Amino acid sequence: MTILNASINFDNKLYKADIEASLSHAEMLANQNIIKRNDFEKIKKGLLQVKKEFEKNKIIFKNELEDIHTHIETRLIEIIGSTGKKLHTARSRNDQVATATKIWAREECKEIDSLLKRLQKSLLSKAENHINDLMPGFTHLQPAQPILLSHHLLAYVNMFGRDRENYSSLKRHNFSPLGSAALAGTTFNINREETANKLGFNGIMRNSLDAVSDRDFILDILNLCSLIFIHLSRLSEEIILWSSAGFNFITISDKYSTGSSIMPQKKNPDAAELIRGKSGRIIGNYVSLFNIMKGLPLAYSKDMQEDKEPLFDSIETTKLCLLAMVGMIDSIKFIPKNMRSMCSLGFLNATDMADWFVKELNMNFRDAHKLTGNIVKLAELKNIPLEKLSLKELKKYNHKISNKIYDALDIEKTIQNKISEGGTSPSNVKREIVLAKDKWLK
Ligand code: ARG
Repeated sequence: MTILNASINFDNKLYKADIEASLSHAEMLANQNIIKRNDFEKIKKGLLQVKKEFEKNKIIFKNELEDIHTHIETRLIEIIGSTGKKLHTARSRNDQVATATKIWAREECKEIDSLLKRLQKSLLSKAENHINDLMPGFTHLQPAQPILLSHHLLAYVNMFGRDRENYSSLKRHNFSPLGSAALAGTTFNINREETANKLGFNGIMRNSLDAVSDRDFILDILNLCSLIFIHLSRLSEEIILWSSAGFNFITISDKYSTGSSIMPQKKNPDAAELIRGKSGRIIGNYVSLFNIMKGLPLAYSKDMQEDKEPLFDSIETTKLCLLAMVGMIDSIKFIPKNMRSMCSLGFLNATDMADWFVKELNMNFRDAHKLTGNIVKLAELKNIPLEKLSLKELKKYNHKISNKIYDALDIEKTIQNKISEGGTSPSNVKREIVLAKDKWLK
């Protein structure tokens, strides 16, 4: 049971947040005349010493002392004697753990946000460097239409932007559980606003039962991490594909790839594969805590101690992988020539031909689509791109087809013509880069 019960081996991460909360709590107790000023001064000195001992790894963890909260209190009492026993007046480990975890997570999530910003910056800078470079855009992983590489990169800037908005919305959780005690509040005349204020909360949680049993903030963080990983792993998958011989769109720096132990010629995109792989774990953490919380009666149940490992793991892994992705993006070398030549294969301008029929021959789109399909069949048979069919051949399908069609089929032109808002035309993408920098990098 001692081993089963203990959380110290992982919740020791919370020492700083827990001591910070204890200091505010003790000061408030003194301000409210619940303990003597002198006692507070002693407790403060003792807690600061405990903090130093944690920083120097001098505290020996004991499973019998269960968790970080008991370790800190026990050590405090060892140092300052029985005055230390007054610290736990008007609180419980139930409000204590919720408070410390919230403070800890709040600071960690700030780092995640700044890493997301760095990643957006790296993507935007690659987009600027390749503002006019073409690549095939895909649907079903089949080459579909030519697009700008910069447009493709900006898609990820937007995805990570939504993650940052998701992060911003976490502020709705920034209310203090401290002072809710075990579940019912306390008989002491405490000042919850004071501790909330000192600890950087925007106010207090207004129901003591909810305050000690709420783990929504962790669920939201696990959701945040999962979405970040959905985006990271899709980007990783593209890096893996693009660096493979079939595509040869990019080279990854040796720092983010490894060789094979048997095949001397190999260069494997390990970092991208690991990020893709870790996304499974992060989504697992999310599913795990949702399952733990489902159906728990109010208020605190020990099941909730299981919130920490998924939280710690998700946050740590998210930070690690965001940092790796920043480095990987910065060091990627694109090979625009290879991207461009794939645009000439597979009739990527077929939709532009159909659009031309609608605009110039006054056809409805469905008929234009069908007609283009028939012309594609001929080009396929002759094994040439659409723009290499002669006007004479094209006129057999519709005598009104003119020379002007070749302009619309020009691959560069097909991109310039995608003028609809949010589309891949260079003027759109240039504007979006300016807007994205203004929105995300300030
Ligand atoms: N280690 C516990 C946790 O992480 C702290 C709260 C314990 N409360 C209690 N009544 N046993 O959830």
